[in-house]
Amino acid sequence: MIVLGIETSCDETAAAIVKDAKTVCSNVVSSSLLFHKKYGGIVPEIAFRKQMETITQVVDCALKDAGIGLEDIDLISVTDGPGLLGSLLVGVSFAKALSYSRNIPLVGVNHLYSHIYAGFLNIGPGNFPFVSLVVSGGHTSLYYVRSLNKISLLGSTQDDACGEAFDKVAKILNLGYPGGPVIEKFAHKGDPRKIKFACSNTRGPLDFSFSGIKTAVLYYVQKNFKSPRVTGYKPQVADICASFQECAINTLVEKSMLACSAKKVRTLVVGGGVAANLTLREKLNKSAAGKKIKVIFPTKEFCMDNAAMVAGLGCWLYKSGRKSNLNLNVCLD
Ligand code: KG4
Ligand code: ZN
Repeated sequence: MIVLGIETSCDETAAAIVKDAKTVCSNVVSSSLLFHKKYGGIVPEIAFRKQMETITQVVDCALKDAGIGLEDIDLISVTDGPGLLGSLLVGVSFAKALSYSRNIPLVGVNHLYSHIYAGFLNIGPGNFPFVSLVVSGGHTSLYYVRSLNKISLLGSTQDDACGEAFDKVAKILNLGYPGGPVIEKFAHKGDPRKIKFACSNTRGPLDFSFSGIKTAVLYYVQKNFKSPRVTGYKPQVADICASFQECAINTLVEKSMLACSAKKVRTLVVGGGVAANLTLREKLNKSAAGKKIKVIFPTKEFCMDNAAMVAGLGCWLYKSGRKSNLNLNVCLD
């Protein structure tokens, strides 16, 4: 079964062709990040206008890269939420129009669940039941996955998402957007034990809170630097990045291990933009190895928002009986 995936939940316009829920034949991602950079975050109106302009070309490009035409598509899978309203509407409307005009079946999929699927691209899904950590710019959640249509939430962030905290700390340190990659780069040069940051207590043991640590970084900067806006590279900046990253990642590792032991599972599947972080990968692998837990990470290109994960999950769901009709709407939470 050949599936066209479409993903437009945030700033990206993405399309991919995936065969039999496994083999990625093409994966095209066009980002409007450059147009948002000067605002220090994503501006929804800029995002959906760019998506309107590029979606046709991105889908054409995905078909061309895979060496196929629209007549070869058996299913269209599209992200229907959560995400930015205008952005989701571009993808869902495009997918519905294509489905209607070419008489191709349609399935809407959840963006966060597709991040879980990203780890299975090119290898195929398995290892049920497992725990999944989805850690991105908008969400930080732990799930118990009995099957890909039986997913229950174990805990999630009470305030900022982990990626959002990386982005906000980078903003405090004047390091640009997105914050994750640049903080990771600086953290390699810093001392993770230099400053004692801590993540706040949470309501439930598997919930997260990252807003307190972001504020602690802000106060530290205000106290230790003459200007509230740090400029240029300084060794202290690397120490702040390393100490912040250490604390945020230790929390992710601790709670993921706790979830695995609470649910008595031997597999952890990680997804979302923060899953690209090498320190997170190393620490999770190390901690899991001691407990005989297998950790599945997506390759780096599939950590970030992409449409291959949407096509893969959509195919699996369709084969298990899920189908959307032309009433498909976006769902913001
Ligand atoms: O999954 P994603 O592409 O988009 C959302 O669905 O949010 O994740 C983007 C987030 C951003 O907050 C970005 O700063 C973070 O992932 N990120 C990272 C790294 N690469 C991206 N965070 C930590 N370390 C990284 N290497
Ligand atoms: Zn995402």
